[in-house]
Amino acid sequence: MSFIADRLGRIKPSPTIAMSDRAKALKAEGKDVIGLSAGEPDFDTPQNVKDAAKRAIDAGDTKYTAVDGTPALKKAIAAKFKRENNLAYAPNQIIVGTGGKQVLFNALLATVNPGDEVVIPAPYWVSYPDIVELAEGTPVAVPCSQNNGFRLRAEDLEAAITKKTKWLILNSPSNPTGAAYSAEDLRGLADVLLKHPDVWVLTDDMYEHLLYDGFKFATIAEVEPRLYPRTLTMNGVSKAYCMTGWRIGYAGGPAELVKAMATLQSQSTSNPSSISQAAAVEALSGPQDFIPRNNDAFKTRRDLVVDMLNKAPGIHCPRPEGAFYVYPSCAGTLGKRTPNGKVIENDTQFVEYLLDSVGVAVVQGAAFGLSPHFRISYATSNEVLRDACERIQKACAALI
Ligand SMILES: Cc1ncc(COP(=O)(O)O)c(C=O)c1O
Repeated sequence: MSFIADRLGRIKPSPTIAMSDRAKALKAEGKDVIGLSAGEPDFDTPQNVKDAAKRAIDAGDTKYTAVDGTPALKKAIAAKFKRENNLAYAPNQIIVGTGGKQVLFNALLATVNPGDEVVIPAPYWVSYPDIVELAEGTPVAVPCSQNNGFRLRAEDLEAAITKKTKWLILNSPSNPTGAAYSAEDLRGLADVLLKHPDVWVLTDDMYEHLLYDGFKFATIAEVEPRLYPRTLTMNGVSKAYCMTGWRIGYAGGPAELVKAMATLQSQSTSNPSSISQAAAVEALSGPQDFIPRNNDAFKTRRDLVVDMLNKAPGIHCPRPEGAFYVYPSCAGTLGKRTPNGKVIENDTQFVEYLLDSVGVAVVQGAAFGLSPHFRISYATSNEVLRDACERIQKACAALI
């Protein structure tokens, strides 16, 4: 009998983190590897945010805070929800966690009973199904093909809902596809949800600010206020504010749910870092002008990557609305032979081939629940991206 608990058998280490670690290890061995697998902006945290953290340290904000977040940060979050999403959340409807990941973890662990189903549009962020499994729930992946812009269609949602469905998880803009839902798209889903009053919505709006070509962000509780009493609107400072290492995420939702999440957090990590919370107040309340500047850079990178990948034989890359990922299809490479004589049978073998032959680390679509694809994170410089895409073109051209 293993010393490790059975529940650990239901989950696996994050495949995106695993690929990033592998790329780092190869680099440390002196190999020429370009890592495009990490999901974080390459930009530094804005100076005003760093300064706020330094001030917090000097002012002695170094003690435990309220488990679910400081009053100052909750105030800043409430103001953000009102200003940007037209959503009113009172302080007892807001929880701050150690990253968006903990907030999701709390929400699912606090609500999912064995056998409960959670509808997850695929491709999905790698952690959703594993957290559901850990809670002894059943993830129900609904394939959302490239032909539908990787978006969940109302009829597919309707078909996926059963008496056991507890949650629908939405993520827009999406990791891994960059696809975003317009208010009209959400309207269609909301109409289905209104017919199923027991299904709750967990919307992961982590990439809210990373949208290009004037695409307008929308979140479901704003689009359909009748869903507000059963929606958890989750967000964080990690991506838009370039604060992945600071570990601050938050959510607004019904007070009873938020209280249960806080109870769970009180018996695990307690409050998120006091210093990071002070920094997050500045991030949400201070100048926001660096966001469009960063987005200009991201848009240029997106276009560079999409244009270059579409010139690689066997690759088809849609142009996504947001985030900093593309999710190209590698269907046209399957069945082909590498210069070493190995036949590429799936996207896992394709990404292995890219890493082994040209030293480019990307993540296979199988990890995100929709194949045959792969995810590229383009949060790095134009020079590195150009080099990586040339290598991918070369590797694809070498397949016969
Ligand atoms: C879709 C999505 N949700 C949540 C998170 C978690 O963010 P955090 O780093 O704040 O825990 C990530 C991070 O990769 C993500 O891509």
